[in-house]
Amino acid sequence: MTKSDSAKVVKTKANPKVSPKAVAKPSVLAKAAKWAASSATMSGAIKGASKGASNGANNGSIPPPTPQEPLPSPYPLPTPQMQGKEGAKKTTKSQNAIAILRADHALVSELFSEYQKTRSLPKKRALVAQICHELTVHAQVEEEIFYPAVKATLKDKALVPEATVEHATLKELISQVEGHEPEGEMFAARMMVLCEYVKHHVKEEQNEMFPKVKSSKLDLKDLGSRILARKQELTPVH
Ligand SMILES: [Fe+2]
Ligand SMILES: [Fe+2]
Repeated sequence: MTKSDSAKVVKTKANPKVSPKAVAKPSVLAKAAKWAASSATMSGAIKGASKGASNGANNGSIPPPTPQEPLPSPYPLPTPQMQGKEGAKKTTKSQNAIAILRADHALVSELFSEYQKTRSLPKKRALVAQICHELTVHAQVEEEIFYPAVKATLKDKALVPEATVEHATLKELISQVEGHEPEGEMFAARMMVLCEYVKHHVKEEQNEMFPKVKSSKLDLKDLGSRILARKQELTPVH
């Protein structure tokens, strides 16, 4: 992903063009609406960046709600408990790059579990929007900060290119669900494939890449600080 692509991906604190209305109210409803709104923004960016996005992308898609238009039912954003052990560590061990990335993996895994358990359409919409947001930001910080540092340091030159190719597939899968109504067997199939693909990718990072990075001379705290700062820029202001 190029820097110009990155700039388009999500609304950022650094982007003065973002409507202040989108960050107006700190209520749960406003937060949920913002996830959906950022989802719509990312969807457009990803679709623009990914050639050959899903056929009939407008079929079954839902219009992004305006900030004043809450989702049909409030959906609480994930709590630290919902983020699991790794998520809970986020606040205390946040400076280590690997801890941050592992916490992201754990959070997305938990969000997929919640999605699979719920039958509520509003909850599904909110979860799909958040899963897509978390995956997009995570992939972006890996590609901008983590992967280049890993590639420059490790002797293994195949790991990062392979992971980058997998990210491209992930983005294509995300574009097939983000902003679409979470109904029907094809949507369910797309979410299932996305979940399985994320599991596969995470397993490779955690079992192959991270151990090599840990035993390298990389300054994980410095990388972690840069990753956190970039994640903050890429996350809609609450
Ligand atoms: Fe990755
Ligand atoms: Fe990752």
